[in-house]
Order: sequence, then structure tokens, then C-alpha cells
Amino acid sequence: MGTERLDFIIKGDCVAEMAKMPDHSVDVIFADPPYHMQLGGELHRPDSSHVKSVDDEWDQFESSKAYDDFTVAWLTQAKRVLKKDGSFWVIGSYHNIFRVGKILQDMGFWIMNDILWIKNNPMPNFKGTRFTNAHETLLWCTTSKEARPTFNYHAMKTFNGDKQMRSDWYLPICSGNERCRNAAGESIHSTQKPEALLYRVLLSTSNKGDVVLDPFNGSGTTAVVAKKLGRRFIGIEREQEYIDLTYKRLAAVETIDDKVLSISQKKEMPKVPFGSLVANGMIKPGSTLFAQNGQVKAIVRADGSLITDKGEEGSIHKVGATVQNKASCNGWTFWSINQNGKDTSIDTLRHDSVKIA
Ligand SMILES: C[S@@+](CC[C@H](N)C(=O)[O-])C[C@H]1O[C@@H](n2cnc3c(N)ncnc32)[C@H](O)[C@@H]1O
Repeated sequence: MGTERLDFIIKGDCVAEMAKMPDHSVDVIFADPPYHMQLGGELHRPDSSHVKSVDDEWDQFESSKAYDDFTVAWLTQAKRVLKKDGSFWVIGSYHNIFRVGKILQDMGFWIMNDILWIKNNPMPNFKGTRFTNAHETLLWCTTSKEARPTFNYHAMKTFNGDKQMRSDWYLPICSGNERCRNAAGESIHSTQKPEALLYRVLLSTSNKGDVVLDPFNGSGTTAVVAKKLGRRFIGIEREQEYIDLTYKRLAAVETIDDKVLSISQKKEMPKVPFGSLVANGMIKPGSTLFAQNGQVKAIVRADGSLITDKGEEGSIHKVGATVQNKASCNGWTFWSINQNGKDTSIDTLRHDSVKIA
């Protein structure tokens, strides 16, 4: 068994190079394989200028069967080197994602989500013969239905302005200063992905120090974002030109400071029913709970339920919601109690009750 060298781009064919890697040795794989676009002929804009499309040698396969055989070969190695609870990501367009998706499901991979990367600034359909192709699809998979991958749900919710992150990601294609160009101003890699895309992928399904493998490294976007986020990386790429470009990009990357890197995790709340605070004497039956600067009050009953002077009754959560005319309420953070002249949130008492126990 060969390489475990980290933060390194291996030159070679990804099937052969992954075959040298140990079983279950990486936490995340992000794969951006050839698209198998089968383009024919030159494409021009209405002003006759040439459109740079994906006609690279690495995207040529003699048949769809050859593409499928290659897909089986690299997916087999990817599944072997990925940890059982690791995350597998693959991105593609309509040209290849359905073939890849079928093959990986047949191999036992389990799809967690298909994410649509919706391009804010897609390339127009110059011929005007089809809809503008404005998205690519990412499949987020595990090695099996039983696997339990990292999913930083709360970090992604915070990232998304406290709203659950959805499966439609609106991001521009890689352009401007981010796009790597040669001296003539041409793109060096035809399919350089935007860092913002990889940022979401790695932030959501990996942790600091995790090892991320990209078997189709290209210009190195995965490696660049992995370094930025304090993850370790291994890239595999056949073309030296792209490996050189990757190291050039990596040299300009600074890893985000440790303190800033830590992401929001939901605090583990003690599982304490409100009634147990009544039962253990921390809150006496007949006590008054209050909220909203004392404008709302309720009496604690012996069974841990509340009742207001208007007769609204139920759990701390139900009465909290009712008095606010809301569908739900976290009663623990809504209600407080005055004990010995001091106002205390019942959430504090909940934590204290665990310490006492
Ligand atoms: C779609 S591009 C990846 C682009 C990359 N995600 C980026 O952001 O730059 C696919 C890359 O895989 C490389 N490639 C194709 N077949 C390969 C193989 N069998 N082994 C290793 N690399 C391969 C190509 O040279 C190309 O750079």
C-alpha cells in the first residue's frame, strides 16, 4: 500500500493512484470527473468570435460504454478508500450525471441529496436552439444507507442567515480575478470551479483536520479551499500544467485562523422535563413564571404544567406559544422565575438541575 502523503497533488491516473491508497483512509471525496460532452464542431458567438468550450483531450471517450467502464473503475476505488462514514461528492452536467448517478447507486452508494448549482451568470445558448444550460448537479452520497456522515447542519443554517440551507445553491461561475488565466488572458483550465462551491461542500460535510481527496484535481479548487478551511488534501491529476497551477494557487492561500475556523454546533441541551424541576423542589408548585418583562405570567401546577389568569394551560412550550399567538415556542428560554429577589431563566435552572443530579 502506497501513499498517504497529505497536502500533495499526485501526478497520474486516478484509478491507478487510488489503487495504491489504503482502504478507508479519507474522510471526504469531491470528484469533478470528465463530462463526456461529445461536442462536435466549433462554436461561435453571433459576432463570430470563438467560444471556448470543453473540448479538452481529457474529456474524450471513444464511446459511452468506455465512459461507463471508466466510471465503474474510479468509483470502485473511491468507495474503497473512503471511510465508511465519509462523504462522497460528485458534480456533473446533464451529459454525465445520470450515467454516474445510476452506476454509483448500483454500487451501493446512498444519495443524501442532489444539489443544484444554479449559475447566476451562465454561458448563453449562442445558437438559440435550446434553453440556456444554467445549472450543474452535485450528488452528496454516503458509502451505504447505514453510514452516518458528518453534516454540520447548524453551521450551514448560520451560514444561510439562520434559515435551513436548501439544495438549490445560487452561485456565479468562476470568473474575474478568481479565474486563472495565462499571459494571453485565456482561461488555463476550462472547467475551474468557483471556490464558493467547494466552501459549501467542505464546510457542510467535513471538519477541521479531515482528509479530502479530489481524484480529478484540475486547477486545484478543492485543494485551495481545503487548505483555507484547515482540512488536509490529496489531489490526483494527469496534467502537469494543472498541477503547477494548483501549487501556484496554494502558495497564495492562508489557512483561516483556528479561532475563526471553529463552527457553530448546536449546544447539547440536557434532556430534562420541566416537571422534574417541580418534582425535585427547584420550582415549587404555585410559583409564578413570567416573560416579556412581566407582562405575561403563569402559575406552575404540581404536574409541571402552567396556567395563566386567562385560563390558558399546558406545557411551558404550549403556553409560551399560546400567549404569543405563535405556532411554537421554546418554553425554556421564554420563561423566567423570581427566586429570592433574583430573576432567573428557567433554562438556567435546567442546567443547574443536571449539575445537582
Ligand atoms: C472537470 S476537470 C476538474 C476541474 C476542477 N474541479 C477544478 O476546479 O479545476 C477534470 C480534470 O480531471 C483530469 N483527469 C481526467 N481524467 C483523469 C484521470 N483518469 N486521472 C486523473 N486526472 C484525470 C483532467 O485533466 C481535468 O483536469
